[in-house]
Amino acid sequence: MNKSTDQIRQAFLEFFHSKGHQVVESSSLVPDNDTTLLFTNAGMNQFKDVFLGLDQRSYHSAATSQRCVRAGGKHNDLEKVGYTSRHHTFFEMLGNFSFGDYFKHNAISFAWELLTSEQWFNVPKDKLLVTVYANNDDETYNIWAREIGVPIERIIRIGDNKGSPYASDNFWQMGDTGPCGPCSEIFYDHGEHLSGGLPGTPEENGDRYIEIWNLVFMQFNRQADGTLLPLPKPSVDTGMGLERIAAVLQHVNSNYDIDLFKRLIAAAAQATDARNPHSKSLRVIADHIRACAFLISDGVIPSNEGRGYVLRRIIRRAIRHGKMLGASDTFFYKLTEPLIEVMGSAASPLQRQRIMIEQVLHAEEAQFARTLEHGLKLLEAHLNKLTSKTLDGETAFHLYDTYGFPLDLTIDICEERNRGVDTAGFEHAMAAQRNRARQSSSFGADHHSILHIEEKTYFYGYEKLMHQAVVTALFLNDQPREVIVQGDKAVVVLDATPFYGTAGGQVGDRGQLKSIDGLFEVLDTQKYSKALGHFGQLSYGELRLGAKVTAQVDRERREQICLNHSATHLLHTALIRVLGEHVRQKGSLVNDQYLRFDFSHNMAMTSAQIRRVEEIVNQQIRYNLSIQTDLMALEDARNIGAIALFGEKYEEKVRMVRIGAFSTELCGGTHARRTGDLGLFSITSESGRAAGIRRVEAITGEKALRVVQRQRDLMHLISQLVKGDSHTLPDKVLALQVRCRQLDKDLQKLKNLQVAQQSTLIGHNARDINGVKVLVRQVKNVESKMLRRIVNDLKNQLGSAVIILVTVAEGKVSLIASVASDLTDRIKADDIVTYVTKKIGGKGGGRSDLAQGGGSDTAALPVAMACLNEMLIEKL
Ligand code: ALA
Repeated sequence: MNKSTDQIRQAFLEFFHSKGHQVVESSSLVPDNDTTLLFTNAGMNQFKDVFLGLDQRSYHSAATSQRCVRAGGKHNDLEKVGYTSRHHTFFEMLGNFSFGDYFKHNAISFAWELLTSEQWFNVPKDKLLVTVYANNDDETYNIWAREIGVPIERIIRIGDNKGSPYASDNFWQMGDTGPCGPCSEIFYDHGEHLSGGLPGTPEENGDRYIEIWNLVFMQFNRQADGTLLPLPKPSVDTGMGLERIAAVLQHVNSNYDIDLFKRLIAAAAQATDARNPHSKSLRVIADHIRACAFLISDGVIPSNEGRGYVLRRIIRRAIRHGKMLGASDTFFYKLTEPLIEVMGSAASPLQRQRIMIEQVLHAEEAQFARTLEHGLKLLEAHLNKLTSKTLDGETAFHLYDTYGFPLDLTIDICEERNRGVDTAGFEHAMAAQRNRARQSSSFGADHHSILHIEEKTYFYGYEKLMHQAVVTALFLNDQPREVIVQGDKAVVVLDATPFYGTAGGQVGDRGQLKSIDGLFEVLDTQKYSKALGHFGQLSYGELRLGAKVTAQVDRERREQICLNHSATHLLHTALIRVLGEHVRQKGSLVNDQYLRFDFSHNMAMTSAQIRRVEEIVNQQIRYNLSIQTDLMALEDARNIGAIALFGEKYEEKVRMVRIGAFSTELCGGTHARRTGDLGLFSITSESGRAAGIRRVEAITGEKALRVVQRQRDLMHLISQLVKGDSHTLPDKVLALQVRCRQLDKDLQKLKNLQVAQQSTLIGHNARDINGVKVLVRQVKNVESKMLRRIVNDLKNQLGSAVIILVTVAEGKVSLIASVASDLTDRIKADDIVTYVTKKIGGKGGGRSDLAQGGGSDTAALPVAMACLNEMLIEKL
């Protein structure tokens, strides 16, 4: 019977366990401390520093089933996914690793045994071929040919076939820099009935010969300038796509025909009501739900930049394909459950975050449905009037920027209409916008983005805030320097430092580096692999490599940070107690001003809950618990029950922070000595951050005290104003409100009375022009709003009449004219208003029986009124 994908994953790990390998959990899709990578894209990522000799483990060989995403960044396969048999956004890479333990010989014989032995995968040997690096790797060739016995016609040598030295299918590198080495790949022949040529031939990308396993012999560390430095010890990194080997062992050619995808595709068909079970769109959806669910479980949230943007693109692409299949409602989130089922032993991150994944997907889907509709209309309109074959980049960018249309979505839609998209123009528009954004962002915002620092810095900052150290590297504009001079904005690396580098939500330290020759103001500290870089500016003098400096952390700032960090741990536990065990940390920020804590919870907190959390934290502060840190083995920490952030990569030796018996968390940050140091804890806001994620902000110590004082002062001031005290204040304010309302009513009554009196008085002034009652009056102290009411009153009083009232207030003339309906054939109210307002530099209008207007030339009013008189005599 065929093995299921889950069984294959487990068999792989079992095999390597039996060969003495430590089975290690997959690391998060969000690489820890590696700014060169968008997402984890290979099994070796979590071991990069071990290969480089910068990090050590207790074991010398390991095996993993690593979740990987290749979308966005260097390996960008998104557009192809669903339309080929083997491209995925998300896949699992089975790998075994040797850190200076075994090398080529064992790597090859382990792979061969697992693949071909009857006890394990039992793949027929004559279905396998291998490739070897053609330059200086006879050793590998000979192992395959002589020791393993692969017939030489099945061993293919491939050299530098990609245009430059070491650029080859048989030379693997993680990125532009980092660990690399020659590799040997194992291919499976899916059979003559399929098209495709041997590896290394122009037809190699067909469906017949498929690479299933890459054995990399890690020997070098590639530098930014292209030179290769030897690694401390020759090592091994291998990678076998789980979905590919499953296709081989389940005797199918396409990855989408393996058990896992067949079930996901069926679930997608059900969720979308798709009629055609073979539609490529179903494959797209089946692929994308894996990437999306795992990315969300690893803490990525859809957004408009970086990782969040890639996630958003994938979700939106899936939704669009759902719409193409005819899905009438939200469907994508419904695939979370079937996914958890098919992922078997790899599903635990999803199980833990299931509700959250569904909520995030659902919210994104609902939001996208709205933007999609607007954007589609716009795109349709553009396509309808398009005369050329390509849509311009500006429009594609506008769709992206305003309607959230990922570029590939626009491309997809245009393709359906046989149109291309000017992607270069799109990139251009995008770059222009990025530039604008950069210019408006503050100095040094991304100073640590592209630096690769090999040095190691010892961190003394847990014990002390001042330390004598030596400058081991200097970088100006990301380039290494021997010396920096006054005014230079640079990154300084020391052999040891008390400065904390941004990590675990805690911001980097600030302070000063003083040498005999200069003073460097540190504005931020960041981690670069094993080094700590001090970013800032040389205020005077110069600073050279090798110089001795006194590194002094800004003590006051650091102390505030420590208070806020310890408060974060107290808050975390208090939230779990008040809201429930489902509360998980989803991000945090700790600086000297406040702390911010994001966590999973799907409702706004009530004020009672907020108060309760505050009470619990303040109670722990009053207990003045001691805050202890211990270094211990990860296993031991877990056994004690420390809160470990899921998806974080921990070293084997972890730092455990214990606050009395109240809180135990793994944490590399800096903390107060006792909870009493925090003084006071106060929550300043509670809000929603994304679907299923809440955000709490809080303050401690002096800052919290100052807020309390400010509030008391404010209360005092208000009490004085209303002549009350803190007890009577609410009643006093209430009484004031009641009184205001009563006064309002009285005022209204008075105004009505005034109108009645005014009208009666004015009414007496009506005169007769040719048998018509005419009243023209300038009234005083009447708001223009009141004019209309007075006119109504007068109409009742006078019956058939022409009434014209004028008032002047604040330099403006207001005018109203009323003509009884039996008189409108002789004169019209709107004509009167137009006639007068023209003369006073204004305008107005209305109906023939009632019109209003105004103007600002008050000096012209007397003349205008005289003219009006003549006009009335003439018309009536
Ligand atoms: N790291 C190697 C790869 O990704 C095994 O192919």
